[in-house]
Amino acid sequence: MSRLVIVSNRVPPPRERGPAAGGLAVAMREALAGREALWFGWSGSNHAPGDPPRLARSGRLSFATLDLPQADFNGYYRGFSNGMLWPLLHHRMGLAEFRREDLAAYRRVNETFAAALMPLLRAGDYIWVHDYHLIPLGAGLRRRGFAGRIGFFLHVPFPPRSIFEALPQGEGLLADFAAYDVLGVQTEEDAANLNEVLGRADLPVRAAAYPIGIDPDAFAAEARRAAAGPEGVRLRDSLSQRALILGIDRLDYSKGIPNRLRGFAQLLKRFPEHRHRVTLLQVAPVSRGDVATYRALRRELDELSGRINGEHAEFDWAPLRYMTQTVPRTTLAGFQRIARIGLVTPLRDGMNLVAKEFVAAQDPADPGALVLSRFAGAAHEMEGAILVNPHDPDEIAEALHIALTLPEAERRARWERMWQAVRRHTAATWARSFVASLEEAPARAA
Ligand code: G6P
Repeated sequence: MSRLVIVSNRVPPPRERGPAAGGLAVAMREALAGREALWFGWSGSNHAPGDPPRLARSGRLSFATLDLPQADFNGYYRGFSNGMLWPLLHHRMGLAEFRREDLAAYRRVNETFAAALMPLLRAGDYIWVHDYHLIPLGAGLRRRGFAGRIGFFLHVPFPPRSIFEALPQGEGLLADFAAYDVLGVQTEEDAANLNEVLGRADLPVRAAAYPIGIDPDAFAAEARRAAAGPEGVRLRDSLSQRALILGIDRLDYSKGIPNRLRGFAQLLKRFPEHRHRVTLLQVAPVSRGDVATYRALRRELDELSGRINGEHAEFDWAPLRYMTQTVPRTTLAGFQRIARIGLVTPLRDGMNLVAKEFVAAQDPADPGALVLSRFAGAAHEMEGAILVNPHDPDEIAEALHIALTLPEAERRARWERMWQAVRRHTAATWARSFVASLEEAPARAA
């Protein structure tokens, strides 16, 4: 079997390369299943730019990571990737900031990656590039003579043409997609959007949907264990029988956290029967804190959460617990099992694996309900969820009221349908079908 080369901006740090790994690392383990692989990307630090990639090994999986020049890194990561592409791809042009220097740094870093990766490649390798940080990487490898199969997967949404066209020099980025043999996105909607712009630019490549998932059985087992563990017990004790509503997100404006808190406040106002009976725990670890829009969001949430508790708390009950510290994944799995309601209301999201994790974490005999944004990729699969328009706090309040009052039989029926969906598209099926497409792609002339 040929070697698989994974390229992503972030590579799991050594301590997370074992069984406790999260996100992409879990999915990749499934894709590898005994295959030899190399994972290449940014080291997580920039102390030694210009040094050759640092190598490490764990079984049949090798890691090669690179420091970057600090100024290039800033323009590439904070500037173009997170200041421009992230808002654009999440349909939020109003938050985007374009600077030609950032785009130049983005291109320079992709060239640096291509140049450093090239000597590590062997004929016959399959390369799988991940996410919006690295769109030009394939073209860089082609220019250096790599003729093997290269695939690209976009983890975030792809917006409609009218939005994408606002990106200065967007044609250049679009042309970079043509270097790939396989182009994957999360949903049919993303594929249709991307294919429209590719088609109009006469580019000979088309995107297809490969919906990402989790490892449902492993997550369910972890949730069972963690719910009975010390943090699970502490959380349950602290609730004094109140229903737990749970939100878990990076502190990111795409996640719709302010509207979610407003929706919760509306619930307390409009459906006072729930006062004193519910607690919303919002876990929102700080993310990309050096980008101005993220700092502004943090200030907004500090104020909003304080105001909601100030207005609604009683001397023996605070309705909202808002925290920006990181909570370990395993602990969160237990919290998800304890929760009566999973509240997942991004304004736009590629897939949203928290929604799938919430479903996997439930007790099948007495499952909680999921309130889910219709603009998360997961909404395309989760028929049993209570779908909301996350722009309308009142609709969130109404959905919460419905979720809190669902009869047990209906909760079970809804959960059953979602559980089937979560088991249909897993991390393993995602990774295997993408790699199978790579293997089936016709060879290019060298
Ligand atoms: C999203 C992106 C990933 C990114 C992650 C964390 O899920 O699709 O590519 O790694 O957010 O963001 P960060 O900027 O901290 O890597």
